[in-house]
Amino acid sequence: MTKAKPVIIDTDPGVDDAFAIMLAAASERLEIVGLCSVDGNVKEEHTARNALDLAEFLSLGCPVARGAAEQLEVPIPERGEHIHGERGMGEVRLPKAAGDFDSRPAWDFIYDKALEYAGELVLIAIGPLTNIALLLQKHPDVKPLIKQLVVMGGSTTRGNRTPFAEFNFWADPPAARLVFESGLNTVMAGLNITLETGVPLSLIDELSERPSRLRGILKEMSEAYSDRAAGFGDVPSSIVHDAVAVFYAAWPELCETRRCEITINTEAGGERWGQSLASCENPARFNAEVIEKIDMERYLALYGEMIDYFA
Ligand code: RIB
Ligand code: CA
Repeated sequence: MTKAKPVIIDTDPGVDDAFAIMLAAASERLEIVGLCSVDGNVKEEHTARNALDLAEFLSLGCPVARGAAEQLEVPIPERGEHIHGERGMGEVRLPKAAGDFDSRPAWDFIYDKALEYAGELVLIAIGPLTNIALLLQKHPDVKPLIKQLVVMGGSTTRGNRTPFAEFNFWADPPAARLVFESGLNTVMAGLNITLETGVPLSLIDELSERPSRLRGILKEMSEAYSDRAAGFGDVPSSIVHDAVAVFYAAWPELCETRRCEITINTEAGGERWGQSLASCENPARFNAEVIEKIDMERYLALYGEMIDYFA
């Protein structure tokens, strides 16, 4: 078995974030060495609380560092309570963690871990990119220490928060632009792949019946999480956007990607605020690998492995 990759998950839990964190915890290919919370789906006071409670409930054994409670330049116009519920976890109320947050803010915590792992650290960013932008601004020497940044965000087709923009980029376009212009080794799991790889509701129902520590919350989370579409195989599915970024981090060899230049619209007040555009013509300007296909059989198998891990 190859050595597990050390990963920090920067997250705005968020129901699909919670699924993504559970899948990462259950993967022997990943070692979660930290969670960082960011404002996004719901207010940072809730995303931070959810991250801390999830870390303890899932026995992750890693620090949780709080991140940005506001965006880099322009306040988020609206969050995602209508999709994730008022506190971000649907109807689920996890036991309140006994532990506390790391004393460092997310950007300092990530920097210290990047130094500790000496170039092997992988960042999985599944919320707005505010913390990653602040990391780059406050610690410009961090770049060579980050092996890879895997982002759930953006789209090479359509938006979901607006017809043009995907939510994570729309929440903080200046942050997304700074990150994609930084030169970091970046992989993008955009809506172009996440909307095609929904998890059949029948699978979630079947997994929810299996004995496991997740039994009580899986179905509740999924029922409350309203981001659904025909998804994979054209059956009723839950679109677990963030889990696709975790799948890439764990199984990159089972994903097909294409090098592109991703640009982000930062025209405040414009209808295309946060829109990401992909151009794949000029290799000199490529700044990201865009995920175009994943091995769905292996991806869906992760959910069963997650249940078995938390049995
Ligand atoms: O557009 C999907 C993304 O926005 C996911 O990360 C979801 O959690 C929300 O943050
Ligand atoms: Ca998210």
